[in-house]
Amino acid sequence: MVIIDTVAGMKEYVAAIKARKETIGFVPTMGYLHEGHLDLMRLAKKLADHTITSIFVNPTQFGVNEDLDKYPRDMEGDKKRSESVGVECIFAPTAKEMYPRGYATYINLEGITNTLCGISRPTHFRGVATVVVKLFNIVEPDFAIFGEKDFQQLLVIKRMVKDLNMKVQVVGHPIVRESDGLAMSSRNKYLSPEERKKALILNKSLKHARELFKDGLKDTLKLKDVISQMIASVQGCVIDYVEVIDAEDLSPIKTIKDKALIALAVKVGTTRLIDNTVLGEQLRL
Ligand code: PAJ
Repeated sequence: MVIIDTVAGMKEYVAAIKARKETIGFVPTMGYLHEGHLDLMRLAKKLADHTITSIFVNPTQFGVNEDLDKYPRDMEGDKKRSESVGVECIFAPTAKEMYPRGYATYINLEGITNTLCGISRPTHFRGVATVVVKLFNIVEPDFAIFGEKDFQQLLVIKRMVKDLNMKVQVVGHPIVRESDGLAMSSRNKYLSPEERKKALILNKSLKHARELFKDGLKDTLKLKDVISQMIASVQGCVIDYVEVIDAEDLSPIKTIKDKALIALAVKVGTTRLIDNTVLGEQLRL
């Protein structure tokens, strides 16, 4: 296992793989790795000859009052965890290495970023798209794996890769959950034991909505109301958004035909959590 912290070093490492005509599976992360991340890496390993991950807490995707400074970090633990699933190389640059003095180029997507997290975090996807393009240019992956936990992010990356005629194949991976249903997230660390219990309402409300949908409820407003009421009834949970929308382009829909995305963002205490499910699709666990 090697850890590389410079762009030049990473490019050299990648060039050696490319010279042998071997393929690269890549999992970009911000570290503090959990089973969700590790599952993405396992998939990368299945798809390609070499598995590379990046650990970089990307400052450009955090808003001014967000948790950049306190974002959890554990490089030693991350090294062991990623090595245990067959990752051969971690790219872990500093912010200065990625955004040196004079840095001026950003990627903006329209439409798809004007909803859900793009409303409450207006500069977030600009930062995500920018860093992911940079990482793709440095690592030159054949496959890049992203989790459906960040459903909008996955769509943004797929859109960008298509729009910019990039060669990488973007692969989505289902949400990985704790045994009690909470979606795994590095930010779960912020939750007190009490908040951790309250946070279960996110998954519970999604499950309930799935049942209502199965029983014939197709009206998106009604589904939204039921979910919102369930979440709002838990003290200390404040809804950022609850949306039932088109799962391909995130546009609003009134009545669900065969498929729809339910996406939630909820503040539990001071911690903002997201979760989602796609109605009309089998739950893949
Ligand atoms: P991070 O939050 O560390 O997540 C890295 C990858 O792991 C993302 O593709 C995310 O969707 C996936 N992931 C996180 N929790 C998951 C879960 N419970 N189940 C399945 N997949 C999960 O997302 C980012 O970092 C950053 O925005 C990044 C893409 C690295 C750009 O900075």
